[in-house]
Amino acid sequence: MKVSEVMYCSFPVWYPKFKHISVKSIVIPLPAEFLEYLHTDGVVLPEGSLVTSGDRDSDEDRVGEELDVNWDDDSVEATAPSFPAFDAAIKKAIKMLGGKVFPKLNWSSPKDATWIAFDKSLKCTCPSDVYLLLKSSEFITHDLTQPFIHCEDFDESGDQANVGYSLILRKWQDLNPGYEFRCFVRNNKLIAICQRNHTAYYEFIRQEKEDILSDIQSFFYHLVSLKFPNENYVFDVYRRDQGKLLLLDFNPFGEVTDGLMFTWDELTDSDSELKGTDNDTQHPVFRYKNSGGIQPNPLSTFGVPRDILDLATGTDASKLVDLLKLRQQQQEDSSSEEETENQQT
Ligand SMILES: Nc1ncnc2c1ncn2[C@@H]1O[C@H](COP(=O)(O)OP(=O)(O)OP(=O)(O)O)[C@@H](O)[C@H]1O
Ligand SMILES: [Mg+2]
Repeated sequence: MKVSEVMYCSFPVWYPKFKHISVKSIVIPLPAEFLEYLHTDGVVLPEGSLVTSGDRDSDEDRVGEELDVNWDDDSVEATAPSFPAFDAAIKKAIKMLGGKVFPKLNWSSPKDATWIAFDKSLKCTCPSDVYLLLKSSEFITHDLTQPFIHCEDFDESGDQANVGYSLILRKWQDLNPGYEFRCFVRNNKLIAICQRNHTAYYEFIRQEKEDILSDIQSFFYHLVSLKFPNENYVFDVYRRDQGKLLLLDFNPFGEVTDGLMFTWDELTDSDSELKGTDNDTQHPVFRYKNSGGIQPNPLSTFGVPRDILDLATGTDASKLVDLLKLRQQQQEDSSSEEETENQQT
């Protein structure tokens, strides 16, 4: 995999060419100070504002001594995260997208962090919803720190500086997970398709498999393949109804992307059942679950939040302090909004 191939899957790069077949979205470049805030393990309180007993002189030395704190000094406020212009841009975008949005960065959504959200989903209605999810997600950290980790031509000195990190806000859609499919393209051929929510059984997929396959093939050959620059990639589609498909995302062709019902050995091995042939009429392999039974939740591996583990092991208490502060701020924001509404009625 090459850096350029990963870059073509970066949302702000692919979206302008495909927006007519995708979900309405707004791209907001991340200001440098917000990027820095995401990178730090979030200490909201400024250094020195919390004095632990070990840092002070002995109690006797302090008899009669006032703590030297200047409460008028607004430097305390200044170090708490505050991004007024960015906040305003997010609020405006949320409004333009109908009041509810789905957040992500250039490649990943914070889908491992829904545990921290009020309704356990990625639905955001205000900037602090977005901050909370971004700050709690390991997937977001991956986008920020090692997007090119699997690239053979990655040059540490330059490539990452040119990413152009952005917050992506997408209009919230009430999606039926059974209608989502992941599609694998190798050498410009659609070689494999499977259900995106790969642990669930959907009766309708079995019944409509021919129609699903032909819809996805025609979507790919008419609307995707000619315009997407990579030869190898993965894309996700949503088939809302017969002949009505939406493009959800592009992902790099390799281990960083979950192969779901395929292994990456199968997908890359030219001797496998999936090998692309020169015959353009060859059908992709379509995998779906054939029978029901009790299935694990596909996100259950993210069930124990990393932040909680960090806290439990004492490695990163500051991260949780940060999140709790944001949560508190969010509650205050929403109660003051309610108050305003009550006053208006
Ligand atoms: N606009 C939206 N509104 C509501 N839910 C959405 C929206 N976009 C995506 N989703 C849901 O969130 C899931 C993850 O979205 P997306 O594919 O953009 O994230 P991702 O981080 O790129 O995932 P992956 O790592 O698997 O590629 C989708 O499968 C879909 O169920
Ligand atoms: Mg993706």
